Amino acid sequence: MRVFVTGATGFIGSAVVRELLEAGHQVVGLARSGTAAAGLTAAGADVLRGALDDLDSLRSGAAKADGVIHLAFKHDFSDYAGAIAADLRAVETIGVALEGTGKPFVVTSGTLMLTSLLPPGRLGTEEDATNAGVPRGASENAALALAERGVRSSIVRLAPSVHGEGDHGFVPTLIDIARDKGVSAYVGDGLNRWPAVHRLDAARLFRLAVEAAPAGSRLHGASDEGVPFREIAGVIGRHLNLPVVSISREEADAHFGFLSAFVSADNPTSSAMTQERLGWQPVNPALIPDLEQGHYFRI
Ligand SMILES: NC(=O)c1ccc[n+]([C@@H]2O[C@H](COP(=O)([O-])OP(=O)(O)OC[C@H]3O[C@@H](n4cnc5c(N)ncnc54)[C@H](OP(=O)(O)O)[C@@H]3O)[C@@H](O)[C@H]2O)c1
Repeated sequence: MRVFVTGATGFIGSAVVRELLEAGHQVVGLARSGTAAAGLTAAGADVLRGALDDLDSLRSGAAKADGVIHLAFKHDFSDYAGAIAADLRAVETIGVALEGTGKPFVVTSGTLMLTSLLPPGRLGTEEDATNAGVPRGASENAALALAERGVRSSIVRLAPSVHGEGDHGFVPTLIDIARDKGVSAYVGDGLNRWPAVHRLDAARLFRLAVEAAPAGSRLHGASDEGVPFREIAGVIGRHLNLPVVSISREEADAHFGFLSAFVSADNPTSSAMTQERLGWQPVNPALIPDLEQGHYFRI
């Protein structure tokens, strides 16, 4: 299969590219810079120069491919609404290019959206639908609606920690905050849970999805169903030789900044249906054993 991948140069996308190539697929990666293009070429992928806001590049990449995996996202938390809108535009544009072809289209989302949709403490499953009022909800629903328009569309909701060597997401930010503040903190009793998935397991899930996900399926990239946040703070404190402390909800904003809402989120998430539907079996280290390996704490 010739697969067009947006976000192909990112932490997860670069692993997806490798996974696809190793499975015998061809990859065309979207690149918005010379550096990104050179990286893709070195990895063995073809390059399409373009960007999320260059809708012609998305149309052209989708039209010439046998399937699309959409991972690119503007991680600009100062204009999150703009990032969400750009994501929706990209999904709609690629969707129109694939309409009536029966080709697969895999769209990335996140499990954290379930926290605002489900009763507190309820395990999120693939059957839980979203709505346009939550971040990335409109993109999810636009992607799933394409199943009625001749596209084998699916969405992959990723856990808030996609972890592994090279991670530059939430966990490294927590480590930086702990270093800066001199304590590794959790909020309240710290029993709120974060699902997690190893980057390489996530990459395999994207490959399986583009190969075989039924049209209109919601998939969960979460191998840890929910790690109590206190355990994450505990490992960070131990590796940095810092005290592990509880802080109140009122103190959390000043301590964690933009991460505050995520740090206290309780987001238990099942991937049982995903595993059964696609035969996806996570085999790489879970979050705590991955943190224990020490690579997160090298300067
Ligand atoms: N990492 C996690 O823990 C996690 C958790 C939940 C969901 N996700 C989602 O998973 C997806 C991949 O995440 P990631 O961690 O791999 O992100 P990342 O390492 O930050 O990579 C982002 C990718 O998007 C591309 N990109 C950003 N802005 C773009 C634009 N305007 N036009 C074209 N491409 C653009 C980047 O290209 P350049 O190389 O040119 O910058 C890069 O390839 C995202 O949708 C993210 O929100 C990630």
